[in-house]
Amino acid sequence: MSAPQRSPASVRQRGGAAAPGHGLRLRPMTAADLDAVIEIEHAAYGFPWTRGNFVDSLAAGHRGELLVHANGSVIGYCLAMRGVDEMHLLNLTVAPRHQRQGHACRLLDALERHCRALGIGRIWLEVRMSNAGARRLYLRRGFVETGLRRGYYPAGAAGREDALVMQLELPAGRSDAPSDALDR
Ligand SMILES: CC(C)(COP(=O)(O)OP(=O)(O)OC[C@H]1O[C@@H](n2cnc3c(N)ncnc32)[C@H](O)[C@@H]1OP(=O)(O)O)[C@@H](O)C(=O)NCCC(=O)NCCS
Repeated sequence: MSAPQRSPASVRQRGGAAAPGHGLRLRPMTAADLDAVIEIEHAAYGFPWTRGNFVDSLAAGHRGELLVHANGSVIGYCLAMRGVDEMHLLNLTVAPRHQRQGHACRLLDALERHCRALGIGRIWLEVRMSNAGARRLYLRRGFVETGLRRGYYPAGAAGREDALVMQLELPAGRSDAPSDALDR
């Protein structure tokens, strides 16, 4: 992912998204959500986005989406930037205590549906080379590795870390993502 520099078929449909419902819903991210988002961001990353990164991203009109529980608490989120015929997934994050429950897949399902509705044929992203969990998620979702950005991410005293570029093609007409309660 890229914070504006760093930088998110269903695994469970294609291998594992959980059934819809479960009292979850998707809604757009707004500036009013940023306290909750930043709390999750700091819990999830060694090098989190800053509040300014989120503010700038929302102000730029990027698509910010929250996955929220029925009680209103934020479970996860994604931010994506639209290009001419592609979507750049900038940030995909699930709160640590909610991970491995299919929530990233729900967010990706929604993003894929959104892209298809707009006629966008490709989603791409950067991911840290060391982020084995995220790399596995994207591979299971059908993303392929298409490039490498050397020294793309900060890595503390160790210097910089490479990013893998991954890409998902969304052929026109593919319709394996179901309509569900999380769609909007
Ligand atoms: C990566 C991340 C978004 C995954 O969210 P999640 O809700 O836990 O993912 P899901 O439950 O939808 O996982 C679907 C599948 O992806 C793979 N996967 C996800 N996290 C994994 C992990 N930590 N290790 C190995 N495989 C993983 C598994 O195949 C998983 O299916 P399974 O649970 O049936 O084995 C989450 O771990 C996260 O927010 N991490 C910190 C932030 C981050 O790294 N974001 C991505 C930046 S590019």
